[in-house]
Amino acid sequence: MITSKLVAVFLLVLLICLTAHSNPVQPLVNDGLKNDPSPLITNETEAWEWVARINPEYEKFQSEKVEADWNHSTNLTEHNAKISVEKKLQLTNFTKRLVSEAMEFDWKNFKDPKLKRLFASMVKRYLNLCEFKISRMYQLNAEMRALFGKAKVCNKTNEPPNKCFVVDPDLEKIMSKSNDTEEILWAWKGWRDETGKKFKDLYEEFVGLYNESTLWIGYKDAGEYLRDVYETPTFVDDLAELMREIQPFYRELHAYVRRRLMAQYPNVSFPTQGHIPAHLLGNMWAQTWENLEPLLRPFPDRPSVDFTDELIKQNYTALKLFQLSDEFFKSLGLIPMPDPFWQKSMIVRPADREVVCHASAWDFYNKKDFRIKQCTTVNSRYFLTTHHEMGHIQYHLQYQNQPIQFKSGANPGFHEAVGDLIYLSTVTPEYLKSVGLLENFVDDEGGDLNFLMNQALSKVAFLPFGYMIDQWRWGVFSGHTPKTLYNKRWWENRCKYQGIYPPVKRTEHDFDAGSKFHVPNNTPYIRYFVAHVIVFQFHEALCKAANNTRPLHRCNIANSKEAGRKLADVLKLGSSEPWQIPFKKLTGVEKMSANALLNYFKPLIDWLKKQNEGEKVGWTEECPPESFE
Ligand SMILES: *[C@@H]1O[C@H](CO)[C@@H](O)[C@H](O)[C@H]1NC(C)=O
Ligand SMILES: *[C@@H]1O[C@H](CO)[C@@H](O)[C@H](O)[C@H]1NC(C)=O
Ligand SMILES: *[C@@H]1O[C@H](CO)[C@@H](O)[C@H](O)[C@H]1NC(C)=O
Ligand SMILES: *[C@@H]1O[C@H](CO)[C@@H](O)[C@H](O)[C@H]1NC(C)=O
Ligand SMILES: *[C@@H]1O[C@H](CO)[C@@H](O)[C@H](O)[C@H]1NC(C)=O
Ligand SMILES: *[C@@H]1O[C@H](CO)[C@@H](O)[C@H](O)[C@H]1NC(C)=O
Ligand SMILES: *[C@@H]1O[C@H](CO)[C@@H](O)[C@H](O)[C@H]1NC(C)=O
Ligand SMILES: *[C@@H]1O[C@H](CO)[C@@H](O)[C@H](O)[C@H]1NC(C)=O
Ligand SMILES: *[C@@H]1O[C@H](CO)[C@@H](O)[C@H](O)[C@H]1NC(C)=O
Ligand SMILES: *[C@@H]1O[C@H](CO)[C@@H](O)[C@H](O)[C@H]1NC(C)=O
Ligand SMILES: [Zn+2]
Repeated sequence: MITSKLVAVFLLVLLICLTAHSNPVQPLVNDGLKNDPSPLITNETEAWEWVARINPEYEKFQSEKVEADWNHSTNLTEHNAKISVEKKLQLTNFTKRLVSEAMEFDWKNFKDPKLKRLFASMVKRYLNLCEFKISRMYQLNAEMRALFGKAKVCNKTNEPPNKCFVVDPDLEKIMSKSNDTEEILWAWKGWRDETGKKFKDLYEEFVGLYNESTLWIGYKDAGEYLRDVYETPTFVDDLAELMREIQPFYRELHAYVRRRLMAQYPNVSFPTQGHIPAHLLGNMWAQTWENLEPLLRPFPDRPSVDFTDELIKQNYTALKLFQLSDEFFKSLGLIPMPDPFWQKSMIVRPADREVVCHASAWDFYNKKDFRIKQCTTVNSRYFLTTHHEMGHIQYHLQYQNQPIQFKSGANPGFHEAVGDLIYLSTVTPEYLKSVGLLENFVDDEGGDLNFLMNQALSKVAFLPFGYMIDQWRWGVFSGHTPKTLYNKRWWENRCKYQGIYPPVKRTEHDFDAGSKFHVPNNTPYIRYFVAHVIVFQFHEALCKAANNTRPLHRCNIANSKEAGRKLADVLKLGSSEPWQIPFKKLTGVEKMSANALLNYFKPLIDWLKKQNEGEKVGWTEECPPESFE
């Protein structure tokens, strides 16, 4: 099946490339594409030997590509962009050879499941296009990265020199702290004017090429290609089912937040359809709402569970946040960050150059270099981000001895979940007290609900956002959402799932999806949704391993070597097994489920229902008519 598709696609690609007078892609030999195929190699010892021979070279190309990407992302110059494109092309050139050699083996009939999986992971992940298109695709990638990274919103009503605002931390500070709705709207709209809108054309061109590059292997479109790493035929339906399980809780939270915001901003009109204006949720993308905690705290007479002030009072630095996180991993018996990590990571925004500030964790595929790039602000939000990124590095360290083909998460959601899992312990009043960051917590029902509310604003408010981005993007890849409908469909998803709507009328001159890093950067997003669900299943399992006796939301696994061992056993595997196997090893079950999450938040869910009694909960699926031109 794959083979006949492959032939058809090959002929198509060949035709397109020839008509464009460029080098055609080389046929994948011995997969039905040659007239006189020599017999496929069936000797598995030989196959392992080939892997051992080629992998060092593979790692070298991969490593150089990552380093060039790092150099560009931490120093946005034209020169660095050029090198990053070159290194990507060299890697692509190498993988072309890699895959064509792999295809000389009869890997589909290999007996050793590990070996078969290793070959499949190379062949199934192989993107191909004719060379001029590949190079154009990488250029577009680098261009959007630079445009996004350099974007600033300038105050034009100001006298020169026009104070300009970067998103992190300037605009985010306005979004999170300001209660002046005009100023908030200025930041909200300004950021969208300076990002997505500026590269809508580039994005369309990029998507066309990227989509085409996935057709080569026989995928229907790039969406199918990206979903395939989850190795779950029912993946799309499973996600929809999870969203349905979570929706009643989200609606209660939404209704409560809406009521409080209406009281806080009597001059802002809230549509009768029930949506919340997207700029009022304390975050540029309304993706998490914990910045509204002071306004939404269920028991305002109890002290805040937020410890930002304490971090500042105690003179915390970015470095100290990272060290604290490292200590926690070590307390579980996990791997400490190696020296080069501390020497080469970028943990604050440098003053002397432009960088992509969006936090990320990097594996250089050489067993030495593991780095984080993050523009840390000392606050409780970055406490979470720090753990999140450190979780990625821990995963990199744990699977460093796997062959390069398996140096990735069991699935992408796993990778995003590790640091968040650690965070669920480190955010507990128990842990924070133990490190002197939350001395005056009042441990009664009110304090407990305050804590859970803060967690819900961060973890539950996120879920529909985490879900909708790729709902939108898969539509773009499949052709369902052409450029002329990018923004309309984006808002249809925002309205439907998040229950929010744009505070100013939007048009197709705007491209609001493009104001979110992961869209121009082409980073898949459903992984974050998956992570936000399974992290509670993982937490439940590790708390059990640690013999926790407290309610799930107050469990802190610090110092539990049993929990650490259980986690490490799974992380070590990388992607060498289908994710259901490590998932079962860890949780005892094979399926993702929202039960652990709902269990974690049970006291808050009950409280919200009582608060919302008599209230009309929910919103219409469609956007209010004033949303869109
Ligand atoms: C398979 O290859 C190995 C290493 O090249 C060789 O030693 C062995 O004899 C081969 N086995 C068969 C059955 O040909
Ligand atoms: C990245 O930058 C470092 C330091 O400037 C340099 O030594 C290295 O060669 C660069 N790597 C690539 C792949 O350009
Ligand atoms: C940034 O990159 C440029 C090359 O484009 C290089 O000359 C400069 O030294 C780099 N800056 C830093 C701080 O690495
Ligand atoms: C591609 O790889 C071949 C060897 O496989 C090499 O001769 C050629 O120079 C490479 N091209 C680029 C652009 O790196
Ligand atoms: C922009 O400048 C005007 C005039 O100086 C000022 O009133 C306004 O507060 C500034 N806006 C922001 C977001 O700083
Ligand atoms: C808005 O914030 C300012 C300063 O933080 C504060 O003085 C003022 O009371 C707030 N206004 C409202 C309506 O909350
Ligand atoms: C709300 O509108 C009223 C009437 O226009 C005005 O007096 C008041 O200052 C406004 N309040 C805020 C917080 O903007
Ligand atoms: C924090 O720094 C300030 C100013 O340098 C100093 O006075 C204070 O004692 C420091 N606090 C702590 C907890 O180290
Ligand atoms: C992606 O490829 C599929 C299959 O050819 C096509 O139907 C779809 O329109 C393409 N999408 C884009 C954005 O080009
Ligand atoms: C947890 O409980 C089990 C069964 O009661 C016991 O065997 C184990 O030693 C306990 N582990 C710890 C860390 O207390
Ligand atoms: Zn991440």
